[in-house]
Amino acid sequence: MASFKFVFAVAVLVMVHPAAISFVSSSGSLELGDQCSSDEDCKVGLGCFKCGIDIATCVRSNITDPFSVVNNSMPFNKYAFLTTHNSYAIEGKPLHVATQEDTIVQQLNSGVRALMLDTYDYQGDVWFCHSFDEKCFELTKFNRAIDTFKELFAFLTANPSEIVTLFLEDYVKSPNGLTKVFTDSGLKKFWFPVQNMALGGRDWPLVKDMVANNHRLIVFTSAESKQVTEGIAYQWNYVVENQYGDDGVKPDECSNRGESKLLTDKTKALVLVNHFKTVPVKLLTCEENSEQLLDMIKTCYVAAGNRWANYVAVNFYKRSDGGGTFQAVDKLNGELLCGRDDVHACSF
Ligand SMILES: *[C@@H]1O[C@H](CO)[C@@H](O)[C@H](O)[C@H]1NC(C)=O
Ligand SMILES: *[C@@H]1O[C@H](CO)[C@@H](O)[C@H](O)[C@H]1NC(C)=O
Repeated sequence: MASFKFVFAVAVLVMVHPAAISFVSSSGSLELGDQCSSDEDCKVGLGCFKCGIDIATCVRSNITDPFSVVNNSMPFNKYAFLTTHNSYAIEGKPLHVATQEDTIVQQLNSGVRALMLDTYDYQGDVWFCHSFDEKCFELTKFNRAIDTFKELFAFLTANPSEIVTLFLEDYVKSPNGLTKVFTDSGLKKFWFPVQNMALGGRDWPLVKDMVANNHRLIVFTSAESKQVTEGIAYQWNYVVENQYGDDGVKPDECSNRGESKLLTDKTKALVLVNHFKTVPVKLLTCEENSEQLLDMIKTCYVAAGNRWANYVAVNFYKRSDGGGTFQAVDKLNGELLCGRDDVHACSF
């Protein structure tokens, strides 16, 4: 009965209000590269963005999932993942510097699979902050970690084949402070154990085994001691990474970030490429997320001893002049999985 009433109500709405049709089918017919005025004008998987002072066009806004387009039977380090830099620093907070415009739920739904989060003690809890002096303040706080972690729990529950990585720039000093939020949010259920992480340049476990074991949340911390005290992996034991900010976007240069071992150190099986400017300017981000990004992943491939990146970290991840960050990740998955320029070429 209730469902009849709902169908009836929707039918009346559609008949009475022509505008309601856009409520029923919310995506348009414009193709990649076409001029547009809103996301709804563009086909599914595309969004409408301006690049600098250019007119707005339909550009890619959704990932190709390598696990479904190819398969998930390869080691974890044979795949690439779209990563958002300061994923929590979302527009809308006065006086705060934003690096993203989508919520974390939207990021995950569009195919972001790794989040960079800055964790701090604040008011007896763990918060995401973009701060200084290793302390969080009223004016630098964004939101409580537990709220985002609960959203992530819901995402991993609803998407039982997906794997998410967290990179924590970790200033939490309270004993077991992080463990408490991982436990309280339910995320421990998906925890990938440190002792299963690949050392000495060996391959990581197969994705299908990670899925079968529900080891679908990988967490790295920048705080070395927590690997022993809380079982949270110290990032630099497992990942090499290039410079970030303006030092990471210089053409033809790809050198390691201070905390990271040399990019050529193959005892670390995972490679991360940072590609975002120090000062995030939304309208200009399309440039660093387009051709320049494709160039940088090739530069870093050579710099990392002929290794393609597993993670690509960007600001305003949907902003590009066409394929953007999604195309960059498709290329990386193609190269990693079958030595081709695009993941779609691996599926035949
Ligand atoms: C992105 O693509 C996936 C797989 O095709 C789909 O399940 C998901 O709903 C899409 N997300 C958005 C935000 O369009
Ligand atoms: C999965 O895809 C990779 C890359 O194309 C291929 O080498 C491998 O044989 C595939 N595995 C299975 C079980 O299909």
